[in-house]
Amino acid sequence: MAAETTPSPVNIATLQRMKARGEKIVCLTCYDASFARVLEDAGVDVFIVGDSLGMVLKGYESTVAVTMGDMIYHAANVARTGRHALRVVDLPFMSYATREQALGNAARLMREGGAHMVKLEGGAVVAGVVEHLTRHAIPVCGHIGLLPQSVHKLGGYRVQGRDAAGAEAVLADARALEAAGAGLLVIECVPADLGARVSATVTIPTIGIGAGPACDGQVLVLYDMLGITPGKRPRFVKDFLEQTGSVPAAIAAYVRVVRDGSFPGPEHCY
Ligand code: KIV
Repeated sequence: MAAETTPSPVNIATLQRMKARGEKIVCLTCYDASFARVLEDAGVDVFIVGDSLGMVLKGYESTVAVTMGDMIYHAANVARTGRHALRVVDLPFMSYATREQALGNAARLMREGGAHMVKLEGGAVVAGVVEHLTRHAIPVCGHIGLLPQSVHKLGGYRVQGRDAAGAEAVLADARALEAAGAGLLVIECVPADLGARVSATVTIPTIGIGAGPACDGQVLVLYDMLGITPGKRPRFVKDFLEQTGSVPAAIAAYVRVVRDGSFPGPEHCY
C-alpha cells in the first residue's frame, strides 16, 4: 500500500519559490475549523482569516466594527484544524494606529490566534508600522488598492488606480511596503494592467482580488465564491458552487482554475 504523503507546511519561502517559478498561489478566506479542513484537502495554499468575517459572518455593513476579540476567536478556530496552509490574519480597524499598539495586537494574533503572518491595510502611510513589526520578527502581509477599512473615507467600494496618478500611488505603496519588510501583498480592486505592473515591480508575492490574472496568486472571500453572499455580485467574483453542486467540488474547481491561470478571466477584470 502506498504511504500517504503529508504536504509540507507552506511558508513565505514556499510562496517566494512559487513566484520565482511562475506557479500560482491559491488563497481563500477561512473563518472556522470545518472549512479549514475542506480547503486544505482541496489544496489551498494560504488562508486569510479576513476581517470580511464582520460582513459575511456577523452581518455588519462594513469591516469597521470588527474587534481583536473577533479576529482571535476565528483565527484560533482555523488554527485548531489547519495543518499546512499559511495562516494570515487581519489586524482589524484601528488596532494598528500606533507602532506599539500594532506590535501588541500582532503578538496576540500570533500567540492566541495561531497566526503565521498578520495583514494590515494601507501603503506608504503604514510603512513605519510594518517596519516596526518585521523588526520584531512578525511577518506582515500588506493590503493595497481598495482598502475596505477606509470605506467611510473613500465613500464606497470603488476600483482604485484607474488614472495615471492613482496607478503611480498604488505602485509607490507597493514599493514602500516591500522596503519596510512586508513578505506578501494583497492587491484589491485595481485594473488588471496595474495588478500586473505591481506584481512585476515587487519581488514579494502578490495575491490579487479583482486585480487581474497576472498577480502571483488569487484570493476570494469564501462565502462570495460559494454564492452565499446576498446582493449584487462584484465583477471579480465567480460563484463556483453554481456549476459544481457541492462545496468540496466548488473549492476543487477554484483551486484548479487559479493554478492553471484561467481564473480570473477577462470578464472578472477591471
Ligand atoms: O478581509 C478579507 O477577507 C480580506 C480579503 C479580501 C483578502 O482582506
